[in-house]
Amino acid sequence: MSNLMSNYSPLDVTFAKGRGCWLTDTSGKRYFDALSGVGVVNLGHCHPKITQSIIEQSQELLHTSNWYRIGHQEELAVRLCKLANMDKVFFSNSGAEANEAAIKIARLFARQKGIDIPVILTAKESFHGRTMATLSATGSSKVQAGFSPLMSEFIHVDFDDVDAINQYSDNKNIVAVMLEPIQGEAGVIIPQQDYLNEVKAVCEKNDWLFILDEVQSGMGRSGKLFAHQYNDLTPDVLCLAKGLGNGVPIGACLAKGRAAEMLIAGTHGSTFGGNPLVCKVALSVLDVFEEDAILENVNAMSDYINNQLKKNLEDCSAVTQIRVKGLMIGIGLDENIIDCTQLLQKALEDELLINITGNSIRLLPPLIITQQEVDILIKKIIKLINA
Ligand SMILES: Cc1ncc(COP(=O)(O)O)c(C=O)c1O
Repeated sequence: MSNLMSNYSPLDVTFAKGRGCWLTDTSGKRYFDALSGVGVVNLGHCHPKITQSIIEQSQELLHTSNWYRIGHQEELAVRLCKLANMDKVFFSNSGAEANEAAIKIARLFARQKGIDIPVILTAKESFHGRTMATLSATGSSKVQAGFSPLMSEFIHVDFDDVDAINQYSDNKNIVAVMLEPIQGEAGVIIPQQDYLNEVKAVCEKNDWLFILDEVQSGMGRSGKLFAHQYNDLTPDVLCLAKGLGNGVPIGACLAKGRAAEMLIAGTHGSTFGGNPLVCKVALSVLDVFEEDAILENVNAMSDYINNQLKKNLEDCSAVTQIRVKGLMIGIGLDENIIDCTQLLQKALEDELLINITGNSIRLLPPLIITQQEVDILIKKIIKLINA
């Protein structure tokens, strides 16, 4: 009998130690972590520079609250704004909270425009978090089940279809479009190259905010620091979390221009948000990206994985599609041929950690993965699918 609430159904394994792409369980068995704690430990488990940063900062100062200035927070804001071409940042503790801040910004933007019932367009199959606002924004009835009344001011449109957004141009209540540049929880759904540019153009035409949720696709995961940088555009609001802290809880809502001026004193806050520890660690994460040429590795390993998967699995009847962008990898499976419900456990028995979402295998391996480790991963995936 566990005293934990039953909202998770964890696999029956407990990890004691992690290094790079590898986790060791309490019995000493080693596993290849192809999920990185759901896209969080992008620099690998216990990266020495991150561990050092945690040690050093914990000896100086952990927390003071946002009632006082926080040097590391100010420094992190400068660096993130420069990297993302944004103006201002609000720091939260999670992805959902970063998105909550974005939704509140859209609400305040609506007030300025005199809109009483502001509506945000989001995508079907999207995932934006588990708070009431973000689960309402999420385009999944499974995530929403049991939690009505939802916030009704979200309209879910088809992803990767600009016409589905454009058709709301006459609706005076729309204030923003909120999208993931690559849908992660849906199984790594990559839109056509021009989609984000076309949506941005519709937002500009209608004076809507363009909010990008890069909680999963950001921080190098896609092969660019931010996935929207594959397009020549800057969003009005950009949400980050997961890999920003490599395991310490930090989220960030970045905004540009008018959107950056919406949150004024007293309108939003978080006790823990952006404390000295998490900001120092996030600064170290950015240092590692520069010092260790992380993006170069992501792109090299992405090409290699893509080729290997296609070479070995394209002719496999159980595989319907192989989707790769950076180190976001989705392998679509034919459920008539393969029982997806068994795959997590089977992978675990082969000392491999993956995710199954719908009828896809999702892989988010650490961005520091080596070619030898890719070979191990590919071998295990082929074995899993052919078993
Ligand atoms: C795109 C996206 N947005 C938001 C979230 C929610 O983040 P968190 O679980 O940190 O609240 C996730 C988590 O998987 C995500 O993938």
